[in-house]
Amino acid sequence: MNSHITVVDDGPVRTVRMNRPDKKNALTAAMYEAMASALENANGHPDIRCVVIAGGASAFSAGNDLAEFAQAATAGEGVGASVIRFLHALARSERPLVAAVQGLAVGVGTTLLLHCDHVVAGTDARFSTPFVGLGLVPEAASSLLAPRLMGHRRAFELLVMGRPLDAVAAQACGLINAVVPPGDVEAEAMKAAHHIATLPAEAVAASRRLMRGPPDETVVRIDEEVRLFKERLQSAEAQAAFDAFLNRRR
Ligand code: COA
Repeated sequence: MNSHITVVDDGPVRTVRMNRPDKKNALTAAMYEAMASALENANGHPDIRCVVIAGGASAFSAGNDLAEFAQAATAGEGVGASVIRFLHALARSERPLVAAVQGLAVGVGTTLLLHCDHVVAGTDARFSTPFVGLGLVPEAASSLLAPRLMGHRRAFELLVMGRPLDAVAAQACGLINAVVPPGDVEAEAMKAAHHIATLPAEAVAASRRLMRGPPDETVVRIDEEVRLFKERLQSAEAQAAFDAFLNRRR
């Protein structure tokens, strides 16, 4: 448990909630660690049959904390071990993952959804992946999973051109299952999670493995993206973009 991540078990459903509203749920290393632990621990927990990933009312997540990216860039470091641990935990999760998205889902806030089995979003949800605009490359195996899900051109528009998707467009390209009024998102996501949890657990797990294939291909892609991401973090393009965000005048 981390103060910005809460983990609550309600019978067979675990909810992992990002809770840093003053920073729109931008994710720090400590938050990634806490989320990775919650996912890893669920795998070994026979009573937990489904995990819900949730944010807050105005933001699911603004993505990686850009101050931490800037710090890593200055120190000549790459993507932190905590981020990698979280991304591997997503790819290797043995429990079905459901997401409840209200408001903004930026960067990893969007790409983590590609690992989820069911996504409920509010009419106010907005999905964007500004990696290339920040001088970076897509992460979380999105370079593999997004084209597979929505086709190359739509994935290129999202991941490279950086064009955001509203809830209707996200549903049309298969990123999310359902669009509901913002106030109903959590209840709908919990309903889906509890439904999954009532199904025969071994049959769910075996079906899910068949449908997703072995996680190794995804993990290999995550690691390849991480290698390129490190190079990009050091680039003048990225450093200028971080400076512009962190020193913007409002
Ligand atoms: N990293 C660090 N801090 C962030 C952040 C991020 N990714 N996203 C938002 N914040 C902070 C802002 O700096 C601000 O902090 P402050 O109040 O101390 O100044 C606070 O969260 C609220 O953000 P603000 O920009 O005022 O809200 P907004 O509704 O006008 O805009 C966003 C929200 C998400 C569109 C905008 O903050 C943004 O573009 N953030 C960067 C997103 C991003 O590029 N993520 C990385 C993807 S790889």
